[in-house]
Amino acid sequence: MLHRRSFVVLGLTGFALLAVSALVIVLRSPTLNAGIPLQASGFTENELFERGRYLVTAGNCASCHTSVSGEFMAGGVAFKTEFGTIYSTNITPDPETGIGGWTDREFLNALRYGVRPNGEHLYPAFPYTSLALVTDQDILAMFAYMQRVPAVKQTPPDNSLGFPYNLRSLMAFWKFLYFKPEVYEPVAERSAEWNRGAYLVEGLAHCSACHTPRNRLGAKSQSQHMGGGEYLDRIPGGEYRHWSAPSLTSAGHGLDLWEHDDLSQYLLTGENRFLQTFGPMNDVILNSTRYLKEADIRAMATYLKALPSVDKAPSTPPSAELMGQGQTIYNLHCGTCHLPSGEGDTDMGPALNSASLVVQSDNPASMINAILYGPQLPDPSGESRWLEPMKPYQYLLTNEEVAAVASFIRNSWSNDAGQVSLAQVAQQR
Ligand code: HEC
Ligand code: HEC
Ligand code: HEC
Repeated sequence: MLHRRSFVVLGLTGFALLAVSALVIVLRSPTLNAGIPLQASGFTENELFERGRYLVTAGNCASCHTSVSGEFMAGGVAFKTEFGTIYSTNITPDPETGIGGWTDREFLNALRYGVRPNGEHLYPAFPYTSLALVTDQDILAMFAYMQRVPAVKQTPPDNSLGFPYNLRSLMAFWKFLYFKPEVYEPVAERSAEWNRGAYLVEGLAHCSACHTPRNRLGAKSQSQHMGGGEYLDRIPGGEYRHWSAPSLTSAGHGLDLWEHDDLSQYLLTGENRFLQTFGPMNDVILNSTRYLKEADIRAMATYLKALPSVDKAPSTPPSAELMGQGQTIYNLHCGTCHLPSGEGDTDMGPALNSASLVVQSDNPASMINAILYGPQLPDPSGESRWLEPMKPYQYLLTNEEVAAVASFIRNSWSNDAGQVSLAQVAQQR
């Protein structure tokens, strides 16, 4: 036994040493090229600027780098994670507090390798694990655009990360284990449209940053790619809660619920024949996808609709008693707008009976947020498709009642998503 254990320890130490040396090689290479300028061939300066603007929009850099009352791209947006709070940086061309002094190569190193000009590693709250797929040409165009946004002098607040996560050098291990920077390679057997969609969805648009589950060290699960993720984000009022991003695979509780057109329309306009966007998707659609060319959105939908299915997590069917309690609450509080049949009403509220990914998601966090805090509309002051907003139910219903009505909705009509527990509601409260 002892022998075996020391063998294991030796093995592990050997592995760690190997890992460190491999690391040094892998992670040094990008910065070695720091002096070599990149070539932006074939574009005039203005074409490059316009291309860059479009790509920066597709990457939704602004949602993460512009705070609610702050200047465009000046950073300071807080990202709460299980490891502590990380603030986005100032990426305006201010030479002292932004990226004004950076070369195009240094910008590429940040986006593709998650490395700063001084060699420090960046945290994956900045989705370089997706941006790594973006081509040199496209990164150069984005740099050309970013250099011409108004410069703002502003330093974001310091991160508050617990030990050991505050040590950026440890990110080298993380990258060794979980990150392979590789530019997107078109798949020959697939159509040009599918490849364009894959490039955008997996690269710039980084849908998987939220829609793929992560392990305890914050790395995305490859086997559960786009199978549904969870992360912390704001609720109406500004506090942070868990949000579930539903499965975007072709699973029965994922995008199988929507036709290609339903998905394109949702991304282009923020609504489709079933529902309107609410919650964290508002930023994705309002700041990014609605500005993209229809051909690009259709390509994204083509790619997404073809994603291999990730199975549903096992779930508990609710008891007849819970379903009964839920139905009473539903008919009393929800049926006026969503109708007793769950079919919804064009003026009053969306269908909940068959086509809501949020309702059918394995993880009910976002659905519970919609009930407790009200579904936050894309533009609360602007025009809405609905006659009356849905109110927050946090002071009207107890946790037991929310669990019952959510369980009822998730297991009625064509829905089959399992019971919502008291603990799940309590976590969102
Ligand atoms: C999901 C949110 C998010 C998105 C989307 C995002 N960023 Fe960031 N970005 C961050 C965070 C957070 C940091 C800080 C990471 C750190 O401190 O390690 C960061 C850091 C950076 C840095 C490093 C700056 C420095 O001073 O070290 C650059 C450059 C950058 N982002 C550019 C971009 C560009 C260009 C885009 C769009 C293609 C983009 N980011 C999209 C969150 C985001
Ligand atoms: C910042 C995290 C985040 C990113 C990035 C993101 N999503 Fe989402 N998505 C969510 C969350 C959370 C929900 C559930 C709540 C909501 O709809 O806002 C959701 C819901 C959805 C839904 C279901 C909407 C419904 O009401 O049933 C679709 C479809 C979707 N996302 C597609 C996408 C696509 C395509 C992308 C990439 C272009 C993307 N998402 C990027 C977080 C994200
Ligand atoms: C006054 C009408 C009204 C009432 C009453 C109402 N809702 Fe809603 N509900 C809406 C509207 C409108 C939306 C859509 C907001 C948006 O996304 O544009 C919505 C959205 C939702 C969603 C998100 C669906 C999705 O995927 O977009 C859920 C879940 C939901 N309601 C559940 C409930 C429950 C449970 C009750 C009762 C406790 C209830 N609603 C009562 C109008 C109503």
